Amino acid sequence: RPRVLSGIQSTAGSFHLGNYLGALRQWVALQDAHDAFYFIADLHAITVEQDPKVLRHNTRVSAAQLLALGVDPDRSTLFVQSHVPEHAQLGWVLQCLTGFGEASRMTQFKDKSARQTDGGAGNQTTAGVGVGLFTYPILQAADILLYQAHYVPVGEDQRQHLELTRDLAQRFNTRYGKTFRLPEPHIVKDTAKIYDLQDPTSKMSKSVPAGVVELLEDPKRSAKKIRSAVTDTGREIVYDPEHKAGVSNLLVIYSALTGRSIDSLVADYDGKGYGDLKKDLGEVFTEFVTPVRARVAEYLDDSAELDKVLARGAERAREVAGKTLARTYDRIGFLPIG
Ligand code: TYM
Repeated sequence: RPRVLSGIQSTAGSFHLGNYLGALRQWVALQDAHDAFYFIADLHAITVEQDPKVLRHNTRVSAAQLLALGVDPDRSTLFVQSHVPEHAQLGWVLQCLTGFGEASRMTQFKDKSARQTDGGAGNQTTAGVGVGLFTYPILQAADILLYQAHYVPVGEDQRQHLELTRDLAQRFNTRYGKTFRLPEPHIVKDTAKIYDLQDPTSKMSKSVPAGVVELLEDPKRSAKKIRSAVTDTGREIVYDPEHKAGVSNLLVIYSALTGRSIDSLVADYDGKGYGDLKKDLGEVFTEFVTPVRARVAEYLDDSAELDKVLARGAERAREVAGKTLARTYDRIGFLPIG
């Protein structure tokens, strides 16, 4: 069975609708026909400052959400990144293969460091930004290459990181002999980029809270956010991302949550107003999220069991990761322990 691997950050506690539609839905769908490895990227989370208590709690909240959304620990290996030390170890090796300029070109670093230092005003100063934020994509490459993944289910914003991963794998293989499989991104076009409800030209993102629908917020609040989503001054409900970004985004979300085609939704809403579409989508989302929230609460209630699931996952993950790292160290010429 082909192998898939993906990770998600635990920083915000709650995942948002972009995470779910862009990535997590695919994680769940892929676990039947694939050998799946999914993890909570807590090493990546500390590239920005984290309160220890909050970080620990959010890691459990993240695990509970993944289980509640349908990641099945009997069919997938679900683990926490920091439980598998090989990630950091291979990360270092790959850092030594990465060019400074190459790392500098990663756009997510540019965006995040700009937001941290000047509130997003766009001045490219990096004072006060940790080096970890800069080398973040290289750790991500290690995450992927350790498992010899065939496919990596992610949203569009991760495409550049996947390209770096392939470049580094290729470089290592050329220098030291074939060691790593070159992974392919698995990006589902229709939902690859879910947009912010208040600014439908930028992606929905935890770092820009306005317009983000969170899975763990009160669904009434989500419904309200959906009702006040920015649209346009027209009246027609049609799919036209270029001219009607807001309405198109709502249609994409509606379609993904119900499994109905955009065409059939457009036909249904013929003659109706934006208000109707928003109100109905609020209900659709509430119906989707209500049982998810209940399951999250149940998993969090038994955190000992949750921790056990993660421990089992870490053990399985280490079997695979350990083998790849040992082979890598050998290829590099590190002296084996005598
Ligand atoms: P993260 O935690 O920011 O996001 C998790 C997943 O959600 C997707 N996503 C979106 N998809 C569609 N529309 C959106 N608005 C949207 N926002 C987020 C992301 O593409 C991602 O798939 N660097 C990664 C975590 C990571 C990782 C890895 C992923 C660490 N190591 C190895 C894959 C493989 C990140 O920060 O994702």
